[in-house]
Amino acid sequence: MIELFDPNKDYGTPVSTATETVHLSIDGIAVSVPAGTSVLRAAAMAGINIPKLCATDSLEAFGSCRLCAVEIEGRRGTPSSCTTPVAEGMQVTTQNGKLAKLRRNIMELYISDHPLDCLTCASNGDCELQDMAGAVGLREVRYGYAGENHLSAEKDESNPYFSFDPAKCIVCSRCVRACEEVQGTFALTIAGRGFDSKVSVGVADNFLDSDCVSCGACVQACPTATLVEKSALEQGQPERSVITTCAYCGVGCSFKAEMKGSEVVRMVPYKGGDANHGHSCVKGRFAFGYATHPDRVKEPMIRDSIEQPWRTVSWDEAIDFAAARIKNIQAQYGRNSVGGITSSRCTNEETYLVQKLIRAAFGNNNTDTCARVCHSPTGYGLKTTLGESVGTQTFDSVMQSDVIMVIGANPTDAHPVFGSRVRKRLREGATLIVADPRHIDLLDTAHLGESYHLALRPGRNVALMNSLAHVVISEGLEDQGFIGQRTEGYQQWREFILDPINSPESNAAITGVPAELVRQAARKFASVPNAAIYYGLGVTEHSQGSTMVMGIANLALATGNIGREGVGVNPLRGQNNVQGSCDMGSFPHELPGYQHVSDAAVRDRFEQVWGVTLDHEPGLRIPNMFAAALEGTYKGMYVQGEDIAQSDPNTQHVQAALTSLECLIVQDIFLNETAKYAHVFLPGASFLEKNGTFTNAERRINRVRKVMPPLAGLEDWEVTQKLANALGYPMQYQHPSEIMDEIAQLAPTFAKVSYERLEQQGSIQWPCNEQHPNGTPIMHIDAFPIGKGQFALTPFVPTEERTTRRFPLLLTTGRILSQYNVGAQTRRTANQVWHDEDVLELHPHDAEERGIADGDWVGISSRVGQTVLRARVGERMQAGVVYTTFHHPFSGANVITTDNSDWATNCPEYKVTAVQLEKVTSPSSWQQRYRQFSEQQQDFLQQALAPETPATMGSGR
Ligand code: SF4
Ligand code: SF4
Ligand code: SF4
Ligand code: FES
Repeated sequence: MIELFDPNKDYGTPVSTATETVHLSIDGIAVSVPAGTSVLRAAAMAGINIPKLCATDSLEAFGSCRLCAVEIEGRRGTPSSCTTPVAEGMQVTTQNGKLAKLRRNIMELYISDHPLDCLTCASNGDCELQDMAGAVGLREVRYGYAGENHLSAEKDESNPYFSFDPAKCIVCSRCVRACEEVQGTFALTIAGRGFDSKVSVGVADNFLDSDCVSCGACVQACPTATLVEKSALEQGQPERSVITTCAYCGVGCSFKAEMKGSEVVRMVPYKGGDANHGHSCVKGRFAFGYATHPDRVKEPMIRDSIEQPWRTVSWDEAIDFAAARIKNIQAQYGRNSVGGITSSRCTNEETYLVQKLIRAAFGNNNTDTCARVCHSPTGYGLKTTLGESVGTQTFDSVMQSDVIMVIGANPTDAHPVFGSRVRKRLREGATLIVADPRHIDLLDTAHLGESYHLALRPGRNVALMNSLAHVVISEGLEDQGFIGQRTEGYQQWREFILDPINSPESNAAITGVPAELVRQAARKFASVPNAAIYYGLGVTEHSQGSTMVMGIANLALATGNIGREGVGVNPLRGQNNVQGSCDMGSFPHELPGYQHVSDAAVRDRFEQVWGVTLDHEPGLRIPNMFAAALEGTYKGMYVQGEDIAQSDPNTQHVQAALTSLECLIVQDIFLNETAKYAHVFLPGASFLEKNGTFTNAERRINRVRKVMPPLAGLEDWEVTQKLANALGYPMQYQHPSEIMDEIAQLAPTFAKVSYERLEQQGSIQWPCNEQHPNGTPIMHIDAFPIGKGQFALTPFVPTEERTTRRFPLLLTTGRILSQYNVGAQTRRTANQVWHDEDVLELHPHDAEERGIADGDWVGISSRVGQTVLRARVGERMQAGVVYTTFHHPFSGANVITTDNSDWATNCPEYKVTAVQLEKVTSPSSWQQRYRQFSEQQQDFLQQALAPETPATMGSGR
């Protein structure tokens, strides 16, 4: 190829993946490109920029503007170079007098119906129309500007993040095509014909009321200032950009943070990002304003008890206070009376330091992370069966799948950029199998081909998975070659799975899924060349979460769907760095790189580098920490970037445990719900204020780069380092790259990871070691880390959480697109416009039985608590099952979830809670109590942050 790929350049049409090479000449320059490449792209690769307007390389060529016309020897007329593929020996002329005149005429027509406000336009200097007018040498508009035009068309300002000014529209259709091809939402159309044609949001009146999900793909694609970010309108054009990684979900999209001074003007999805290829969702693209929200706490604070107001203090005083308290507690109650929770929102380097601080400075293994409550069963289940506790594929791999099975996951809401890629593959003809109690949006994908919805009852996953496997084996659909060469334990598993109790017919009464539908889905899965499984918390957050993960691995092994593109077992990790927090040794039993603390040789290596003796006993898991706190043996805790008071199950139990602590140190960017129980508050830094790395759900390590100074003066790793030093354990890192070097030294799977390599490669999928110095996109190609894949027996054991006459419905929980997890970030952005409260979704039958109408307040009672939410009645839920989200603290969704948990890992059973509903008129007693407590804590914060007045001076505040 003539030129290396430049992610900052628009090549006009998408890359061709053909392997055959075609040779041609463009303006006398010899060019060699893959077959299928457009002439426009071939020219761009050779450094010849043919003018264009309707083409952009994220979209298929459309051929409407004609600006890219060229001459081709032996062909008549002036074909559009964007729609003309290269051919062997082709001779192309991109510029001569005739072409120049044609292009000027086209531009003249466009400009005659365009406002002449370039100097005051928000896109001045960043407008393709302006660039093209210059490129074609347009100097006058002969038609004048007084003819019929669209200049008075009304703006649509309804979307909180972008504006639509139809007066500036050239009807190139790039927005419409971006919405279809990139995002897959089909919210836009071109309405009308000829002069009357215009961009329309369908039957809705405006963007906000339309199907638009604010992904920003249309804004990105628009070559004019018609669709433009409101932040750019307000702040003007950015001056510089820094490539970094989204801090929301486990997709790990790369963005260019476009800056003016130290202010972010906009976040533009980066085309060179290996996880997102230039696409984004509303959270990463637009919802970054939380980082500079007035609620940010920028000063360290301390207090003796949670009944007292906070005192703002210097960093040194706060750190000394925290260290003294930890030391006192350990002196009084013993070494194991303290511990900590690492963050799945913070960087790998920060997480590594927190667990190191706990193991080396606290001297115990009482470290855990929020993966305990989400994907710990993935760790256990995949390690047991496949030998490594991670997803096997890249996100791109799904484009080779013939069947995509999605279990207990809702990618279009929780992993939106990946969800768009799945939709694209489904439009290309792949079959969708969804196993979920809810009707998820993927099932409504436009142009979806064959699909199966196995709408099972919550808590019955294992029975369904066993039935699917039963059909595969009993009907002889297994991959005997793969089983023979790559697996162990097959015969025993085969006998187990062939037991008639595992047949779809036997299990239909348990799962609620018709046997014939299960049979059809299983046959389809086993009969295509490539079938892939993607799963989420609807698999793991169950009493049999680990069993189900093993069941998924069994099905993939039995059908030979492991070890190549298009197949695999893929946990969709929720938080931006939950994969990394697990990798970095956050669990009590594993040192970084999943090395067990009981292994003396492993400990020896860490002890050499860390200079301490390590405890060989696994420490406390999060639920054990709460239990020990209530028993009085666990007294101090350091929590970095997690909001356990809101996110963990059985809120009242968690609150009681937190209240019983003598020292709770919370490090966060806001005074979150957990911090309301804290004695030390250490202000955190947002992802924009720090250097480091995140690891996404495909094991991809991406750089996080500092774009502005930390608002509180320190990056999070610097704070942990200060605390370690104050505790008497020395840490002397100068930069997170040094922490990564230590990780590479101690964790074999990261042996070749370094900031230098990340700069060269952009991103690295681990394992990255001597055998795979550039990383490992697809796992288990030739062998498993444990040699052969292990079949595991997965008998179905019903959860103890049963429906009864008192609690006849099952509650299951999940996420929505616009809010993120506990909502601490997204609730402080304009995303509130889409979801300003958690609601309870229920089926009309269940609503009618209880006299509940849409919008009513509903009391929800479980065996452990009660809360009140507004009802949303609809058909997305099956009768007998209700659903809510947990993005708002006063919703109390976790007041009703129970302590039940996965048998192997203690991952809570969030997805199955037996409940009863009744129409009510006031909040629950917990909600009333908690609001009072929360308001008092907010007062304590305000008192601390209020400027000193004569009345408060000398009062000891
Ligand atoms: S809004 Fe922008 S992208 Fe859409 S048709 Fe108009 S100019 Fe083209
Ligand atoms: S923001 Fe995304 S979903 Fe909305 S219209 Fe544009 S491309 Fe479509
Ligand atoms: S898909 Fe996930 S990583 Fe990508 S922009 Fe959205 S929230 Fe961020
Ligand atoms: S860019 Fe080729 S026709 Fe518009």
